[in-house]
Amino acid sequence: MFDFITEEHELIRKMAREFARNEIAPIAAEHDRTGAFPIETVRKMGELGFMGIEVPEEYGGAGMDSLAYVLAMVEISKVCASHGVIMSVNNSLFGDAVNHFGSDEQKRKYLAPVARGEKIGAYSLTEPMSGSDAGTMRTRAVLDEAGAHYVIDGLKSWVTSAPVADTIVLFAMTAPEKKHRGITAFLIETDRPGFKRGRTEPKLGIRASATSEIVFEGYECPVENRLGEEGQGFKIAMRVLDAGRIGIAAQALGIAEAAFEASVDYAREREAFGRKIGQFQMIQQKLADMKVKIDAARLLTYQAALAKREALETGGRFTMESSVAKLFASEAAMWVTTQAIQLHGGIGYSKELPLERYFRDAKITEIYEGTSEIQRLVIARMLTGLR
Ligand code: CAA
Repeated sequence: MFDFITEEHELIRKMAREFARNEIAPIAAEHDRTGAFPIETVRKMGELGFMGIEVPEEYGGAGMDSLAYVLAMVEISKVCASHGVIMSVNNSLFGDAVNHFGSDEQKRKYLAPVARGEKIGAYSLTEPMSGSDAGTMRTRAVLDEAGAHYVIDGLKSWVTSAPVADTIVLFAMTAPEKKHRGITAFLIETDRPGFKRGRTEPKLGIRASATSEIVFEGYECPVENRLGEEGQGFKIAMRVLDAGRIGIAAQALGIAEAAFEASVDYAREREAFGRKIGQFQMIQQKLADMKVKIDAARLLTYQAALAKREALETGGRFTMESSVAKLFASEAAMWVTTQAIQLHGGIGYSKELPLERYFRDAKITEIYEGTSEIQRLVIARMLTGLR
């Protein structure tokens, strides 16, 4: 039906589906319970090429396109959304940033090991007082007198994969008087002095993904680790989030599909009042509405992936398609997982089934990489040209 999905795409989807079923499904509940980072499966995902799907082969990636990334993300997230977000941050927030804005040397040194899954990448924009209003960050980077290093001081929060990351794409103010035009991006090596990991976030969902604050105290970042030009940081952050939001749409779609499939099975088997519950109209309505939302989310996510692929050729933007997909798919995932628990009744609320995990995991997709409110703001601004 979708003739843009090639045999190569089907192959990566199948690989991801089988890997998720065989390697991730048996450990997902336990990692959710303990919150332990699943380093072994993440390394294996790297060996299969899942940690740098769109990164060119010469920089350690699989050299595939944004649609391949989406198809694989859906399959992994369908089984475990924590693996999904670890994969997403490596691929888009870190991988896309360095692939798109890095120098050849930066790509060889920092991108290749992350794309191969040997090292973990992260992306750090948010601060305790700067979330949706990303342009108001306080972390400072000051060029030293010799012009060799930027000295970085500040506190960043909600950094996915920070507790295990080897390299982080960091955004800091180099010229606060210029506001968002004074933000610059840097590649941070986490084994250098002046870098510390702070408080780990005790999260509702995606519990096996590690999230923490990071602290910079006189951290000396070599000038050659600046990503792009001084003052270009905000635009880099936004362009990278355009790519990241497609990954989150795919993650949300995967979660929704898992909850939906479990609901169809349950509606076929469970009996009440002498009939299968799937024979009751109130259950039928839930299933039908789930199906429609999921199909729509899938189409919007594919549309965003195709828009990104085209934009890479034309130099255009895919901001609109990306925000539309992320907004719709994340709200669909929240709705579908809520209805799936309701349809299952008491057992849906129990930790014996993964429904409650899907529900907890779905919530974050409406929050990170831009809340639903921010996606609506982005869409409306693009529509009207007004700010
Ligand atoms: N691509 C390229 N440039 C862009 C852009 C885009 N998508 N969006 C904006 N810009 C440019 C604008 O053209 C403008 O350029 P000029 O300076 O030349 O005028 C500049 O950036 C500033 O744009 P705005 O005036 O629109 O900026 P704003 O301050 O009003 O903010 C915003 C816009 C959309 C609200 C933005 O701040 C935003 O996206 N906020 C949400 C941040 C977010 O998603 N955070 C999540 C962090 S990652 C995470 O979740 C954790 C994790 O690890 C997973």
